[in-house]
Amino acid sequence: MFAKRHVISMREFSRDEIDSVLDLAESLEPSARGGRCEALRGKILALLFFEPSTRTRLSFETAMMRLGGKTLNLGPAEGSAMAKGESLADTIRVIGAYADALVIRHPKEGSARLASQFSPVPVLNAGDGAGHHPTQTLLDLYTIRKESSLDDLKIALVGDLKYGRTVHSLAYALALYGAEITLVSPPTLEMPDRIKADLAGNGTIVRETHALDDVLDEVDVLYITRIQKERFPDPYEYQKVARSYRIGTENLEGARDRLIIMHPLPRVDEIKPEVDETRHAVYFRQSFYGVPVRMALLKMLVGDGLE
Ligand code: NCD
Repeated sequence: MFAKRHVISMREFSRDEIDSVLDLAESLEPSARGGRCEALRGKILALLFFEPSTRTRLSFETAMMRLGGKTLNLGPAEGSAMAKGESLADTIRVIGAYADALVIRHPKEGSARLASQFSPVPVLNAGDGAGHHPTQTLLDLYTIRKESSLDDLKIALVGDLKYGRTVHSLAYALALYGAEITLVSPPTLEMPDRIKADLAGNGTIVRETHALDDVLDEVDVLYITRIQKERFPDPYEYQKVARSYRIGTENLEGARDRLIIMHPLPRVDEIKPEVDETRHAVYFRQSFYGVPVRMALLKMLVGDGLE
């Protein structure tokens, strides 16, 4: 069901498809922790990152290596022929002939979709501007399934819902699971209307508020995000909303026992370090889950079924 397809947006996934990725990830977790697996021996994954990345780039690399495959890294655009004026389309055509799949992160929305139109091999969108980040969503869902539950889920998405691509992708996927979603953002960083309309069209229950304290005691999952400083056209506008939400232990007094706090990371100052020691903090385990989930995706996209 997956071989040779592109992974550009969560809108193209059904719930059954997501569940099959999460199930495979579960079975690959021992290999993600260092067990032997040679499923992708001889295969090559190309990494094209035109924006900073720690977790996404390195967990894709780890995933490929844990499956016995290898990676090619384009490195910064300044060191490639793009600095001579080569188009993204030509770059993709060329690298697509060297590798079995491509992972791309790019500051422009729509760039991963464009890449998929020129690539002979599967393209995985690792973040296109303020657009989408589907592989992050798959690991977020895996985290919720392991650390909480995807059934009857009450979740708050908090922070920069305008420019945050992780929450855009996650909102679409949560709708498939019938989650009750509360959107918490500063007034100027609300979830785009087009996404809210899509969610409402699916019958998803969506509430909106600007006050984090309104929801802290009512949710199973608090998914907090960084204000995306680099996307603001005007630095002064960023200053106005920087530090809008900061979670400390004092905010968690009335929280449900089973509340989990997630963050795609990097955090700036949204979560105080004192929260790391509480039972609610799962964000570092969440970043590890990127390895088994990306292993599952790669195995489904480029594996030939032979072990
Ligand atoms: C996120 C991203 O790049 O969108 N990071 C990640 O992939 N874990 C979130 C962010 O940068 O704030």
